[in-house]
Amino acid sequence: MNSISVRHLLGIKDLQETDIQLILETADRFKEVLNRPIKKVPSLRDITIANVFFENSTRTRLSFELAERRLSADTLNFSSAQSSVKKGETLLDTVNNILAMKVDMLVMRHASPGAPHFLSKHINAAIVNAGDGTHEHPTQALLDAYSIKEKLGRIEGVKVAIIGDISHSRVALSNIFALKKLGAEVMVCGPKTLIPKYIDSLGIKVSFDVRQALNWCDVANVLRIQLERQQGKNIPSLREYTLYFGINKTLLDELDKEIVIMHPGPINRGIELSSDVADSAHSIILQQVENGVAVRMAVLYLLAEKIGR
Ligand code: CP
Repeated sequence: MNSISVRHLLGIKDLQETDIQLILETADRFKEVLNRPIKKVPSLRDITIANVFFENSTRTRLSFELAERRLSADTLNFSSAQSSVKKGETLLDTVNNILAMKVDMLVMRHASPGAPHFLSKHINAAIVNAGDGTHEHPTQALLDAYSIKEKLGRIEGVKVAIIGDISHSRVALSNIFALKKLGAEVMVCGPKTLIPKYIDSLGIKVSFDVRQALNWCDVANVLRIQLERQQGKNIPSLREYTLYFGINKTLLDELDKEIVIMHPGPINRGIELSSDVADSAHSIILQQVENGVAVRMAVLYLLAEKIGR
């Protein structure tokens, strides 16, 4: 029986290619479970998982909660907005108090890059990073890779353009690591001010021309402008961004091929993506969300196997 090489899922950077393949294969088995009339297995019956969210989320939080329930785990949900964090409690104190209630695993989202890595040095519970600031969002990259494989039958050799605000996107970095480990070709595209200076060190293509990116790729993974993470103005206006980098039906109709459209959500409709593309047959956006549950079941199941209790 194969096992995953890590105790925590902090980022895709730490995973071996074989770990990613194991997660995708395990997710296949759980997707089959999710298509049964009774969508539940007893695999994590003796495991307690805390979902600890210090930042807003719709898809990731609900997807983890559902994955945990489908695996029969006991769960508790923490949201910083209604917590004693507001009274000045530290991150480590908050987490240690949650773990004192005999919690085995922590699914954590935090606005600070490296927050789950910091915790992993101070606590014994297994940690799953559900997004740390502008750093990594590993389960999003895994569900994106799973969705590409499901749609195209392979990942190796597939050309994926990640288009939008690359600098402030944890999805972009995790996708780049995952896709490269799996043998895909990767390009990032966006305004120069939204492409990080270290991009050349990642061994990927860079384009500042959305038509060039769309002509090159098999899959376009479209990202939103993360206004909440930007200190100053990196673009003159959202209208100008849409004019030069927005993906719309006219652009897709100009191509001499069909491409797959992805988006991690939440979509800013009419800014980075027009509704007639987001809701078109090209789009696999809702399949990504569906696959997220099976992929997160796989991650939790494989990490739970590593817990020594
Ligand atoms: N894709 C994603 O992380 O969405 P949420 O912020 O809604 O979890």
